[in-house]
Amino acid sequence: MEIPRGSLPQQTFYEQAGGEETFRRLARLFYQGVAGDPLLRPMYPEDDLGPAEERLALFLMQYWGGPRTYSEERGHPRLRMRHAPFTVDQAAHDAWLRHMRAAVDGLGLEPELERQMWNYLVYAARSMINTPG
Ligand code: HEM
Repeated sequence: MEIPRGSLPQQTFYEQAGGEETFRRLARLFYQGVAGDPLLRPMYPEDDLGPAEERLALFLMQYWGGPRTYSEERGHPRLRMRHAPFTVDQAAHDAWLRHMRAAVDGLGLEPELERQMWNYLVYAARSMINTPG
């Protein structure tokens, strides 16, 4: 039987990718990398990376169509502004994306979902650069 177009509820990317568990895993894997990174680790003001991991997970969940907890807790993301206190140059960008690549690889997503997520992360990381060099 043919299913008429538009008759099925659209699944969000968030749901397709596996929901909260996937995004929490992504943030955990990413911050495991950051914890051992000599350039990035000193940029994080808090000794405990747990709260930063939580903020990243909640932001990404919201971005991809999941719960809006990030904005309930933090307000409008305005990520470029929130990164203004930190020197995000090419080296920081490269390190950030390197840990993100390892984290995404660790998820084992379907190739199409992985491609979409990676494209976004590459674009977002580039847009966060605020210091030449
Ligand atoms: C390009 C290199 C990047 C560097 C070096 C960097 C570094 C940082 C640092 C040092 C913080 C402060 C730690 C904290 O208090 O949470 C932070 C926060 C954050 N970053 Fe990044 N970041 C980068 C790119 C990105 C990108 C591409 C995204 C999103 C896709 C992102 C999402 C966030 C979020 C959601 C927060 C917490 C914001 C808040 O609510 O205060 N970051 N980042």
